Amino acid sequence: MPGTVVVGTQWGDEGKAKVVDLLSRDADVVVRYQGGHNAGHTVVANGQKFAFRLTPSGILYPNVTPVIGNGVVIDLPTLFAEIAMLQGAGVDTSRLMVGANAHLIMPYHQQLDALAEKRRGDLAIGTTKNGIGPAYVDKVARDGLRVQDLLVPDRFRARLRAVLTEKNAILTAIFGEPALDEGEILARYLDDFAPRLTPYIGDSVAFVQRALRSGKQVLFEGAQATFLDIDHGTYPFVTSSNPVAGAACAGAGVGPRDLTRIVGIAKAYVTRVGAGPFPSELKDEIGNGIVERGQEFGTVTGRRRRPGWFDAVMMRHAAQLNTLTELAIIKLDIFDPLPTIRVCVAYEIDGLRVEQYPAFQDALERAVPIYEELPGWQSDTTGARSVDQLPLNAQRYVRFLAERSGVPVTMLGVGPGRDEVIHVPPSFASPVTGSAA
Ligand code: GDP
Ligand code: IMO
Ligand code: MG
Repeated sequence: MPGTVVVGTQWGDEGKAKVVDLLSRDADVVVRYQGGHNAGHTVVANGQKFAFRLTPSGILYPNVTPVIGNGVVIDLPTLFAEIAMLQGAGVDTSRLMVGANAHLIMPYHQQLDALAEKRRGDLAIGTTKNGIGPAYVDKVARDGLRVQDLLVPDRFRARLRAVLTEKNAILTAIFGEPALDEGEILARYLDDFAPRLTPYIGDSVAFVQRALRSGKQVLFEGAQATFLDIDHGTYPFVTSSNPVAGAACAGAGVGPRDLTRIVGIAKAYVTRVGAGPFPSELKDEIGNGIVERGQEFGTVTGRRRRPGWFDAVMMRHAAQLNTLTELAIIKLDIFDPLPTIRVCVAYEIDGLRVEQYPAFQDALERAVPIYEELPGWQSDTTGARSVDQLPLNAQRYVRFLAERSGVPVTMLGVGPGRDEVIHVPPSFASPVTGSAA
């Protein structure tokens, strides 16, 4: 396998980091390809919990070179805090490579993100207020500052001056906020941040290309998820990048033929943080139980995640958008106490049964989920390490998800720990119709 992508198939927090960590045992390079510190990727290794926001989740393995690709937007204080946290835990961070073309999140991005959310009022997206959207806006508008600009102080100064003039006009005239001080930003970025970042800056494209050409195993770690994708998600309740698997190519600088294995990650249910449509949402005691058992609170913002039943309509769409070759179902253990479990298999829209994910958002907003109900297993799955150690109804649930998603299930999560995983043999949960890829 030269190139494997790990991609979220729902609205984020599916357990991508756990699978990246798992696959990193056999990987040489792990690359983040989009997003920024809006991501919160949790790995529980040997009882120790690591929450990554920018650093690739494979960094815990000495065999892995972690790369932050050009498609990522980087908040330097967060990156430095993460490096310090890892060093404090005895992790070697010297291998980390930061792509020279990656864009920087600047203080005004963070500020403008929060102010835009306030301006949206009832239409607020519920962003993480980390400046992700405004940083990507500047990148596309060609007003961004890149990692490599830190190495050329004159260019950094000139570009910042041009951009800050406009940002300060917006901050003061539109939002009535004080202007930001250019000298202060320059001192922080050029005198403090630049020398600290310099050892990590590299030609990440050439590095990843070399790894692929020499047959090394490269893992592409998606952040956010398919339905938060700027082009394919529930716009405007999305993030400002393309989390879909295809974006691994643009964000890391490889070609589509370099991607051979596309692992979709889904929870056994669905969660979403922030606003936006959610057909299978549970606003009842069952939902509260899932939130409590699953500890469904955002790693980044601490917000309660909205829970819902597994949505096979969304999953089939995600399978197509990403050409999934396989699916990992995480947090199966959270369903242990439930007497019955539902799966959304289709939508009813204006009296019609719809199996295809609707292109028009008002239709999605009117969609009433059509559920199939399965019996729960009401026993502990956390000790199971093979499918035959799972209760029969849990096996049945997993097979049902594979069948209705059209993608073979290859991994199951039964707890947050590294070893709390079940590798599923190909014969167990492959849909009759074959993979969606
Ligand atoms: P990501 O953003 O997709 O990497 O996912 P997060 O790390 O934000 O959220 C997943 C959460 O579930 C983390 O707290 C993990 O430690 C935890 N987790 C991962 N896999 C499992 C599992 O199989 N069972 C349980 N109970 N927790 C899990
Ligand atoms: P990981 O990688 C869940 C959501 C925010 C908000 C919307 C836009 O941990 O799965 P943004 O700050 O990106 O402009 O916010 O996207 N969001 C996430 N939700 N997991 C994430 O990342 C998310 N990153 C952004 O809650 O609704
Ligand atoms: Mg997360």
